[in-house]
Order: sequence, then structure tokens, then C-alpha cells
Amino acid sequence: MSNIVILGAQWGDEGKGKVIDIFAAKTDFIVRYQGGNNAGHTVVIGDDEFILHLIPSGILHKTKTCVIGNGVVIDPKALLEEIDMLEKKGISVNGRLFISEEAHVIFPYHKTLDELKEQNKKKIGTTKKGIGPCYADKVARSGIRIIDLLDESVLKEKLKANLGEKNAILTKIYSAEGFAFDPLYKEYLDYAKKIKKYVCNTALLLNEAVAKKKRIMFEGAQGTLLDVDHGTYPFVTSSNSTAGGASTGTGVGPTKIDKVIGVVKAYTTRVGEGPFPTEFSKDLMGCIRKKGREFGATTGRPRRCGWFDSVIVKHAIMVNGIDEIVVTKLDVLDDLDRIKICTSYKFEGKGYNNFPASIKALSHCEPVYEELSGWQQDTTRITSYAKLPKNAKVYLKRMQDLLKTKIVLISVGSDRKQTFSV
Ligand code: IMP
Repeated sequence: MSNIVILGAQWGDEGKGKVIDIFAAKTDFIVRYQGGNNAGHTVVIGDDEFILHLIPSGILHKTKTCVIGNGVVIDPKALLEEIDMLEKKGISVNGRLFISEEAHVIFPYHKTLDELKEQNKKKIGTTKKGIGPCYADKVARSGIRIIDLLDESVLKEKLKANLGEKNAILTKIYSAEGFAFDPLYKEYLDYAKKIKKYVCNTALLLNEAVAKKKRIMFEGAQGTLLDVDHGTYPFVTSSNSTAGGASTGTGVGPTKIDKVIGVVKAYTTRVGEGPFPTEFSKDLMGCIRKKGREFGATTGRPRRCGWFDSVIVKHAIMVNGIDEIVVTKLDVLDDLDRIKICTSYKFEGKGYNNFPASIKALSHCEPVYEELSGWQQDTTRITSYAKLPKNAKVYLKRMQDLLKTKIVLISVGSDRKQTFSV
């Protein structure tokens, strides 16, 4: 049995797309277990760049089976557009994409409510894809699942009930326009017809695969610090992006998962609002953002950048049970003469090694840094760990010692080839 979870150990955008693509070569099934098209997984193959939002990035390996599990929220329009984009590039999903009948469906009112809520001064900085409102309906037990979408009368009944409530909120609380039933019902019936062929009992499919000793990779979206339970709440997404989500979001029990791999960027980024103790000042921010192409793959928003923060990654290692680490984007630090690593926080005169639950406390935490010499050498053409500049090795070794977790793979560029093991 070799079933692994690959997930982000920071605030998302750790470069998981590329890492997942590399590990996909050694697996049979690639499974998304949470989130929706708020994610943006970038994979570069030769001159082609693919950005996948909803379909597991393993789909780029033409012989692999991909699954969208029950824990994912699906915007059918976005899904069909993504299938279309892949087919146009010669990548067929037929017979190898399976969608859970229990996954919840995003409707336009979810997106509108997401947008309206974000007009508030205390916004989260969401992707405005309707993710939070859709998960809210799921938990409130009024959501519409894929299985409901495939049944005309169930869809009619549920959509009517939901529109009654959503239109009242839209018109009375936000003074916005409501949605008419007929066109929406028709539009979604049409989506249902188009996606029906991909829908099945994916928990059964995956457990049968486990029984047949097939290898499964669970592809985490977003990152640990965006997890609704273990992240910087309320500045989080609305799902469990941590390893536990791989079980609840697919119906494959935790005893069937062998390993958890955490993907860590050599520095830190986050998109959206919320505290970020090691955030750079303006000059360094501009320079690293440019070199690291730190702009959201889904929204195009500039990402906030900062020094590597071992406190948040240690928290991620703990709550996910991370066994091994992959470090990405090491090359982005190539030009720096001094590099800082945050080893702990200081708050109200006291030192903290652990990540505080209070957002107020985290906002006031001062990072305590250790400063190392940079390597000021191009690493993008390096093909083995042994050939890395001495100071890059010192930096990685210090990361590994602080995290007490083995670094197994390093990435120094976006291409599949710019990766080597340690
Ligand atoms: P939502 O998931 O659209 O509700 O956004 C909630 C928070 O998660 C915001 O701070 C977003 O910027 C962040 N977020 C959502 N998806 C991603 C992602 O794939 N990468 C990085 N941040 C994300």
C-alpha cells in the first residue's frame, strides 16, 4: 500500500501543482478532496503551461485516473470549461475523470453572496468563487449535491427552496437583485446532462482501488494555514485542507493512508487579508514577487511575500502529521546577500515557539530571526543536491533542523526537470 497525501504547509501557493505532477507519475489515482475552483495548480511541461482549478493536476498524465471527491465544491460551469480547455490541448478526460455524487454544487447565488460579503470593511479577501457560501449551505444541510442535480424533481424542489431564502437575503439585506428560477433551473439541468457521464460513487471506486493495491495520491488544495479548523481563522478558506480532509473528503479511511508530504516554499507568501508575521517591507516584496512570479493563479492578485517562518510550518507538520518535506522555489532567493529565517515569535515580552490561536495575538507577534548568508549564484540549472552552493545547503539544513522533518526533494524552477532529491 502506498497512498500519499500531498498538501501545502503554508498559506497555499507553495508550488503543489508541480510537486503533484511529479509524484503523479508514480501513482494510479489522483484525488482532490476539498476546496473548489478557488485553487490554481500550475504545471509547466516544456513550453506549455497548464493551470488547473478543479480537476486534479494528475490529469496531465494521460494514463492516470482522476477523482473529484465528495469534499470538493463544484461549479459545473467552471468544470466544463476546464474539461474543454484540456480536450482542446489534446488531453481527454473520458473514462478517467470521476466525480463524486456527494460533492456539493456551487450556484450563481453563492458567488454573488461571496462578492457582496467581501464588500464589507472586514473582508477576508476571498477568490469570490462562491466557495464559503456553498460550504455554508452544506453544513446548514440545505446544499444541493451532484446527485440532486441529476434528478430533475429533486433539483426543482431544492433549488426553489434555496432561491426563496437566497433571494430574500439578496434583496432585503443587500438590496441586490435576486435570481429567477426558470433560467437557473434550465442552465443547471443542461450542466447535469453534460457531467452525468463522469459521476459515480467515488468512495466505492477508491476503496476498491485500495483493495486492489492501486496507489492513490490525495491532492491538497490551498494550504494548512488556510484550513478552516487549523488555520488563521477567520482568514481561511471554508474547508479542511489539512490531511484529515483527505479521509472525510473522499471516504477513504485514515488507516489506508501511508504518508503525508508537506510542500513548503523556501520563503512565505499569502493572498488575501490576515496576519503575516514575516511579511517583507516594500522593496524586498517587489523584488521577490517579481522573481517568484507571485501573482494568484486564480485571481491574478499580487501575493504578499515574506521570510520563511518555521513557526507556521512546525504547526503544519504537527496538525497534518507530515512525514517528509519538499522545498520549492529555492532559486527565487538566489540573488539575496542575507537571508532570514523566523525561528520563534515574541509577544508581550515573552517568546513563543507555537502558533497562537488568537488572531489578535498573531497580529502582534514579532518574528525572531536568525540571519544566514545568501549564495548569490544561479541555482536554476542545478540538477543534484551535491552541486548546490554551500550556503544554499546551509539554509536548507537549518530549515530541516528547525522543522525536525526530512527534506526529500528540492525544486529550483517551474519545469519538471528542475527538481532533484536530497
Ligand atoms: P476562498 O477560498 O475563496 O473563500 O478564500 C478564502 C481565503 O483563502 C482567501 O484569503 C483566499 O485568498 C485564500 N485562498 C483560496 N484559495 C487559495 C489558493 O488556492 N491559494 C492561495 N490562497 C487561496
